[in-house]
Amino acid sequence: MDKVKTLAIIKPDAVRSKTAGKIFNMIENSGLTIEAVKMVRLTRELAGEFYAVHKGKPFYEELLNFMSSGPCIAIALSGENAITRWRELMGATNPENAAEGTIRKLYATNVQHNACHGSDAPETARQEVSFFFTGMDLI
Ligand code: CDP
Ligand code: MG
Repeated sequence: MDKVKTLAIIKPDAVRSKTAGKIFNMIENSGLTIEAVKMVRLTRELAGEFYAVHKGKPFYEELLNFMSSGPCIAIALSGENAITRWRELMGATNPENAAEGTIRKLYATNVQHNACHGSDAPETARQEVSFFFTGMDLI
């Protein structure tokens, strides 16, 4: 059986502020395994597709502007309980609620510019990994 994978994204704010290296360091220290990495700039349309689940919410349009505002780095991670472990390492969506030592506590600016993304469940993780990576990209 395939190892459980999750999709992480280093969002445009963190790429812009040159925080990507620190986030990679935290990933490596966490014991999660990096399976694939890709730097891309999403179009607004692709960002809309990726975040379709949030369509209609008050923050949706601004989220698409933000996610298409510059390059981001998509990362496929694997490991036991990878989905939950990556979400714990990221911290709460709003950095005001994020635990000490988490990526969002350390590097997020606000609830929108919050440095990173993580899949939230096995089915979305599978969809999101395939959104960025083909089988050939995954080691
Ligand atoms: O990213 P996460 O799964 O923690 O949160 P979400 O509820 O799935 O929201 C997706 C993204 O929308 C967040 O990471 C934020 O960038 C943005 N967002 C926002 O701008 N304002 C909110 N009130 C909630 C989310
Ligand atoms: Mg989410």
